[in-house]
Amino acid sequence: MSAVTIIGFGRLGSAIARGVLRSGTLQAADMVAVDADPARMAEAKAAGLRTMPIEQALTEACRVLVAVKPQAFGTVTAHRARLHANTTVISVMAGWSRAAIARELGATHVIRAMPTVAATVGASTTALSMGAEVPATEADFARTLFGAIGPVIEIDEAHLDAATACGASGVAYACLFIEAMEAAATRMGVPAEAARAFAVSAAEGAAAAWRHGQVPPAELRASVTSPAGTTAAALAVLQQGGFESLLERAAIAARDRARELGVR
Ligand SMILES: NC(=O)c1ccc[n+]([C@@H]2O[C@H](COP(=O)([O-])OP(=O)(O)OC[C@H]3O[C@@H](n4cnc5c(N)ncnc54)[C@H](OP(=O)(O)O)[C@@H]3O)[C@@H](O)[C@H]2O)c1
Repeated sequence: MSAVTIIGFGRLGSAIARGVLRSGTLQAADMVAVDADPARMAEAKAAGLRTMPIEQALTEACRVLVAVKPQAFGTVTAHRARLHANTTVISVMAGWSRAAIARELGATHVIRAMPTVAATVGASTTALSMGAEVPATEADFARTLFGAIGPVIEIDEAHLDAATACGASGVAYACLFIEAMEAAATRMGVPAEAARAFAVSAAEGAAAAWRHGQVPPAELRASVTSPAGTTAAALAVLQQGGFESLLERAAIAARDRARELGVR
């Protein structure tokens, strides 16, 4: 029996499988992949995973990782009769609550995870949510699985939409910051390639100093901001323009939209 059956070997499902293989957490033969797209099935097979039709995969699974788009979940629940009630279901789908997944699949143990797109480079911070009914071995498996693609933070499901608004969606806000910085540098005459390098390193440098050097962002910012200096001039413009409150409003909008789209 395989350790995990991945339903949906797309961007995220395949990134998790690659992370798991890279970390040595599981062997390729421990994983089964199912995808509606034959090209993705071929990719999984080439990586050494076993592939099979969804009907057989659900029948044989002791654990499934649901990594299809939320709107495609119906094509999985159509086969719910194949799934054993005690099969652990781990879902990375946005919006579908643990209760709704349990109801639609007739599953008893449901875990939700929200990784980020940086899973593809092993740099995702995954928000993980599970109830007390999940057996300890299954909870540990989920921690190990997502630990293969980066740090894991356990969180109450009530806060998962907000965590997604700041984590998984936050990657997009950081991209917008980099794009805007690059554009500003280019407009000031910095050659295009250099403009991109400086913009990326501004974001990367701040994060790396915090992660590796443990210098809190506020402290790092203060250390590069001389009174009445150049950085102070820029920060004054950002703060007068409402940078922090704009970011908060953006995150709230993402959280509220997730609540609207969610299936409880
Ligand atoms: N990508 C991210 O950064 C990210 C981050 C956090 C959470 N998520 C969540 O992860 C899930 C997957 O996202 P993704 O970006 O990896 O999507 P994706 O690249 O579109 O991958 C989903 C794959 O599942 C296949 N599929 C659909 N129905 C299926 C079924 N019944 N059985 C087997 N395979 C099926 C799709 O095939 P077809 O294309 O042929 O339909 C596609 O190959 C989503 O629910 C998303 O909310 C993604």
